[in-house]
Amino acid sequence: RPHLLGIEPLHPLEITALLDRAQHYAEGARAGIRPEPVLAGLTQVNMFFENSTRTQASFEIAGKRLGADVMSMAMQASSLTKGETLIDTALTLNAMRPDLLVVRHPHAGAVNLLAEKVTCAVLNAGDGRHEHPTQALLDALTIRRAKGRLHRLTVAICGDIAHSRVARSNLILLGKMENRVRLVGPPTLMPPEAAALGVEVTDDMAAGLKDADVVMMLRLQRERMDGAFIPSEREYYHRFGLDAAKLAHAKPDAIVMHPGPMNRGVEIDGVLADDINRSVIQEQVEMGVAVRMAAMDLLAAARREAASI
Ligand code: CP
Repeated sequence: RPHLLGIEPLHPLEITALLDRAQHYAEGARAGIRPEPVLAGLTQVNMFFENSTRTQASFEIAGKRLGADVMSMAMQASSLTKGETLIDTALTLNAMRPDLLVVRHPHAGAVNLLAEKVTCAVLNAGDGRHEHPTQALLDALTIRRAKGRLHRLTVAICGDIAHSRVARSNLILLGKMENRVRLVGPPTLMPPEAAALGVEVTDDMAAGLKDADVVMMLRLQRERMDGAFIPSEREYYHRFGLDAAKLAHAKPDAIVMHPGPMNRGVEIDGVLADDINRSVIQEQVEMGVAVRMAAMDLLAAARREAASI
């Protein structure tokens, strides 16, 4: 039963194959070519138990571009509010025989648990602070397009690492593809296991960004902080917010990334975020659609193949 639950189980060759397929879809979209409706006749259900703009919209657009029948559940209006559990909700939808279930949930592990209970393919659209695989894949595609390769690059991931599933999935993917990763942020926002991850860890932006090819900024995820110490936004921006002066420590052609949603003037200067000579933030969003098309295309093909054996 193929699913896309995280980057952890993927082989580098699978990552490359998925990025190649996404690149094909990205080029087609730019050329105005309609893709083959490879998901025609399939039903895709999006279940977002946590808010989203980019991931939910791009999964919906991706499914529709490939011909799927797409339904986005309004989870706030579902019977969850009447006490129905996550598993019962999933089993109910599974009984309607969808082919693809796209799930975001605030709790780490919830999407994996759900995948064990249903018969369709499940795609993790972000679970707690665990994984956000399609985000890491779209980041990888954006990096590969900008740098011409996805190996032997120095990538600085900066900010609230501790609460970030984006950081975790990127860390795993970039490591698998043999890149050098640095984690940069205040010690209070660094996961306890950071030192054991085999990456460089620093609370000094100048050292962390030195000669970096890629600078990836992250939002302060206050919704996951459980009352832990949060620096004032002004103090945080002064020490860790990315501006032109701090970016000058990176390579002159370093790209600036942010998964969004971004808080201008907190983790990143607004002018820099909009600078199309350095920032690839909008391209990340564009690649999000292509990567999600590729992920659903490949999963559907894998399941067709499994069913025919
Ligand atoms: N990057 C990301 O997951 O954004 P959304 O929360 O808007 O989906």
